[in-house]
Amino acid sequence: MGSIEELPDGTMKNILEQETLKWVFVGGKGGVGKTTCSSILAILLARVRSSVLVISTDPAHNLSDAFQQKFTKTPTLVNGFSNLYAMEVDPNVENEDPLGSDDMDGFFSDLANAIPGIDEAMSFAEMLKLVQTMDYSVILFDTAPTGHTLRLLQFPATLEKGLAKIMSLKSKFGGMLNQMTRLFGVSDEFAEDAILGRLEGMKDVIEQVNKQFKDPDLTTFICVCIPEFLSLYETERLVQELTKFEIDTHNIIINQVIFDEEAVESKLLKARMRMQQKYLDQFYMLYDDFHITKLPLLPQEVCGVQALQEFSRHFISPYRSSLDRGSVEEVELRVSILKERLKDAEAELEKARKGKQKI
Ligand SMILES: Nc1ncnc2c1ncn2[C@@H]1O[C@H](COP(=O)(O)OP(=O)(O)OP(=O)(O)O)[C@@H](O)[C@H]1O
Ligand SMILES: [Mg+2]
Repeated sequence: MGSIEELPDGTMKNILEQETLKWVFVGGKGGVGKTTCSSILAILLARVRSSVLVISTDPAHNLSDAFQQKFTKTPTLVNGFSNLYAMEVDPNVENEDPLGSDDMDGFFSDLANAIPGIDEAMSFAEMLKLVQTMDYSVILFDTAPTGHTLRLLQFPATLEKGLAKIMSLKSKFGGMLNQMTRLFGVSDEFAEDAILGRLEGMKDVIEQVNKQFKDPDLTTFICVCIPEFLSLYETERLVQELTKFEIDTHNIIINQVIFDEEAVESKLLKARMRMQQKYLDQFYMLYDDFHITKLPLLPQEVCGVQALQEFSRHFISPYRSSLDRGSVEEVELRVSILKERLKDAEAELEKARKGKQKI
């Protein structure tokens, strides 16, 4: 077994120090602490970068809750900062119709709309185009729960495919399309050229973004989770999907960990802690090449800049047990955890033996 020294450092310092990073995605299952972590990371990045934008793409926005300040779909300076901006966009709602609804009547709009996800993809691309021109030093995405996030990351590919399809149709049936749009009552005979022009213009942005998202110098994905079975499972799925899309990921935040000073007194917490320890071990085993940052479960919510700032220290220095190593309490706790795990292992062995006998 490798020694602790060989594991990547258990903090988020690597993200703060990677000066080339331009896009940072924060994602994971519902309610695990994505918004809290993005907000804290944004605050920490604002200390070392010239300008930071944090964007929520979750329809149930909660950056506003975390910072206790109302945000809209245009970047707004976060109170108390001079270089930290936040915005909330809804990928499901047609903000302003990115294709231009006037131009989109009739046959051609049906054609464009027949490509699944193109509307959403176009709004996302428009948003990326917008934020790219704004020249932020780093852009953080507080994403919606897992499934949605991955769809978002596929948008550039969706769009590229859709565009290719439209372009090939256009070159094949260009003349006919022109006649048909006129036939179906589009008043401006150049309407579809206008749309095509727009789509083509978008293509550059998309190609660029697609390339950037796949460049580990520019983009990384941070997985947030909690030490429980479902979350471990979901994290593995997420990591696999990201690998498939060639999106870099090497940080995992495990939130809501019960630190041992909380557990010594309470039987319930001790039991929960044992359960968590089992999954923590598995996280460390599965992701030994990741930076794994543990965050404590607090008795209260993490709301407002002050609470976020206070909580941010766990991003920078790894947790050290408050119990002196070798003290009676610490040894007792370790023994009780080990006993419990031995019991589990014995039960598992017994089950395996029984299974074998049947065969
Ligand atoms: N370590 C923690 N201890 C106590 N409360 C926490 C902790 N982390 C997050 N919270 C609180 O839990 C709630 C959910 O956290 P958060 O909004 O960050 O999760 P989320 O993953 O963004 O959720 P959603 O999927 O709904 O967007 C918030 O009220 C937050 O303040
Ligand atoms: Mg959230």
